[in-house]
Formats: sequence, structure tokens, C-alpha cells
Amino acid sequence: MGLGFRLFVRPLLAVMDSEKAHARSLFMLRIQSSSFIGRFFLRALYSPHELPQRCLDLDFSNPLGLAAGMDKKGEALKGWESMGFGFIEMGGITMLEQQGNPKPRMFRSSPHQGLINRMGFNNPGSEKTQKRLLKSLNRGGLPKVPLLINIGKSKDTPLEKASADYATTVACLNGFADAFVINVSSPNTPGLRKLQSGDELKKIIEACQLKNERQIPLLVKVSPDLSDDDLATVVQVAQESGCAGIVATNTTTSRPDEGKIMSQEGGLSGKPLNDLSTQMIRKIADLTDGNWPIIGVGGICDAEDAWQKIINGASLIQIYSTLVFNGPSSIKDIVNGLKKRLKDEGLSSLNEAVGLARM
Ligand SMILES: Cc1cc2nc3c(=O)[nH]c(=O)nc-3n(C[C@H](O)[C@H](O)[C@H](O)COP(=O)(O)O)c2cc1C
Repeated sequence: MGLGFRLFVRPLLAVMDSEKAHARSLFMLRIQSSSFIGRFFLRALYSPHELPQRCLDLDFSNPLGLAAGMDKKGEALKGWESMGFGFIEMGGITMLEQQGNPKPRMFRSSPHQGLINRMGFNNPGSEKTQKRLLKSLNRGGLPKVPLLINIGKSKDTPLEKASADYATTVACLNGFADAFVINVSSPNTPGLRKLQSGDELKKIIEACQLKNERQIPLLVKVSPDLSDDDLATVVQVAQESGCAGIVATNTTTSRPDEGKIMSQEGGLSGKPLNDLSTQMIRKIADLTDGNWPIIGVGGICDAEDAWQKIINGASLIQIYSTLVFNGPSSIKDIVNGLKKRLKDEGLSSLNEAVGLARM
């Protein structure tokens, strides 16, 4: 963790409401990354060494991405790129604009290094997002690193019309994304996780494929709380319907502990999710013989956590919560740590490490 973050930023954020702190940090990043000089300083401070990876027919300068939910509207895309992320997942975006659940809806548990959120897909909706991204595109504000867009279902759309909701967002945003992530695993939209069942998921993926004019990769994001049978169904249906890969995992409704924060309703992320998410990655890699791209996310706090995700089958990885607890120097720590680990293990590329624990 950077000294500046530990001494000044973390104590300040700790006394602020979690959502306010998040909004202020995002605002500051947007301002700082709007100028060349600001981006130069971000790169100088945080950017890691290159650690190239090729996956999903895309080139990545390193395997670490920003997880969905941190930049829902795509406000600071250039900022995340300057800080050294190898890719960015913005969103989740739903067809309709929505406010999300009543506040407070985001809670920090510092002793656990965990976050509980029940945001409920607060986002500007697909049309406004299209306009915002078009504006960014015209101003040269889209990142050069791969941009994934996470899509969810609008709360007011009934479950039986979910496929049209997802497909409308795909149609609206097709021109801006390098891949879409179909999120059927957020615990904060009533009934959403039911869309992980075979028939429903198939309908959604097929509807999205029809609107996927540029034929960019579609991935499905799964919950860490799925039973083994349900996970096997999701994997089979997603593969058969032409999905290019899977994102594992979203937040969990399980709790490692009791207490005031832990008893909040919502999805838990951060350190307490790490092992559960790594186990899911391993199960998916075993189900697919390691032949289907997995983006591993959930509880990565350092290079060792990232390494475990990779050797259990993840080709790419993402972080969210550790940015809140350990600051942006986590990016450098994780990528440079992975690079050193590869060298120590005598491996010459990241792909040689993917799934190593399964051999
Ligand atoms: C406040 C918050 C909002 C999130 N919003 C989304 C979302 O809109 N879509 C999604 O697929 N995941 C969302 N996530 C889940 C993250 O993308 C990630 O899967 C999860 O936090 C686990 O990673 P972490 O332990 O590194 O935080 C959200 C997480 C948090 C903490």
C-alpha cells in the first residue's frame, strides 16, 4: 500500500460514508485524468510493468482489470487506464435508468477488509450511457485498453421479459465495447439470480447474440453461491450458446462472521470472498478442461491471491474492494508481484501459469 494512501487518504475515507467516499474518489480521478499532465502523474505513480496476455481474441498489456460496479457510468475510463489496469469493466448498465436501492447501501468492514453492498444497479440506463460514450469517443476519451461493459436487468422489467432488456442494452452499446458481461448474479435485484437457470440463461444469451452486430465476445458472470449442479448447468448452457468465457465471481450472500456490518443485507466482496471465488474458478476450469477463458474476481488483495486465481484456471483477473482498502498502488503490487512470481517459477508467459494447480 502506498505511504500517501495509508497516511492521508485512508484515514479520511474511513470517516466518510462509503458511497460518498466512492463518489468523491471517482470525481477526483475524472478531473485528474482529464489532462495530459494529470494522466502522466497517474502513470508515473501507479502503472505497473507490462505483463502481456492474449485472451478472448484481445491483447492485454497486463491481466489485471477493474471489476464492474466501481465505474458504473464510465466516468473516469482514461483514469483507470492511466493507473495501469490492463482492461476495464464498466457498468452494470440496465435498459432503463434507475436510482437503485435507498441509501445507505454500501458498508465497509475494515477488520474483514470486506464490503457489503446492496446498490441495486443504480445507473443512467442504456440510452444515456450510449450518449455519454459517444461523447467520450468523439473527444478521444475512450481507453485504448479493452473495455468490457457489464449489463444487468432493469428492476421494473419482469423476469420473463429479461432477455429483451439485456438485448436492448447490447444493441445500444455494441459500438463501444470490446466484450459484454451478462450479469445474472447480482444479489441486489429481486429474482435476478434465478436467471442463472438453464432455460432463462439460454434465452438471454441468444437474444443478446442476435443484437451483437459486431460479434464481440459475450461472457456470463456467475454467483459464488451456486450449487455444483447449478454451476455445471450455467457453464454448459453458456458454452453451448456461444459465450466466449465466464467471469467468476460476483459478491456472496454468505457471511464469514456475525456483527453489525456483517448482518447488513447485500453482497459481500473483498478478502472474505477470496477462497470461495477461487474454488469456483477451479470448478469451472475442471468442468471445461481448462479450455474456456475465465476472468477471476473476488477477494484479490495481493499478488499471492492473484497467483492462486491464475494457477486454478483464471486467464485474467479483476479487483474492486482492495482498491478501497489498499488504494491504487494495489495495481502495481499485484501485477509486478505476478511478474516476479512467474520468473521465480521459471515460466516465460502468463499462459504457462494458467491452470498450473490442476496439472
Ligand atoms: C459497490 C459494488 C457495486 C458492484 N456492482 C456490480 C455491478 O454492477 N455488476 C457486477 O457484475 N458486479 C458488481 N459488483 C461486484 C464486483 O464486480 C466484484 O465481482 C466483487 O466485488 C468481487 O470482487 P472484489 O472482492 O475484488 O471486490 C459490485 C461490487 C461492489 C462492491
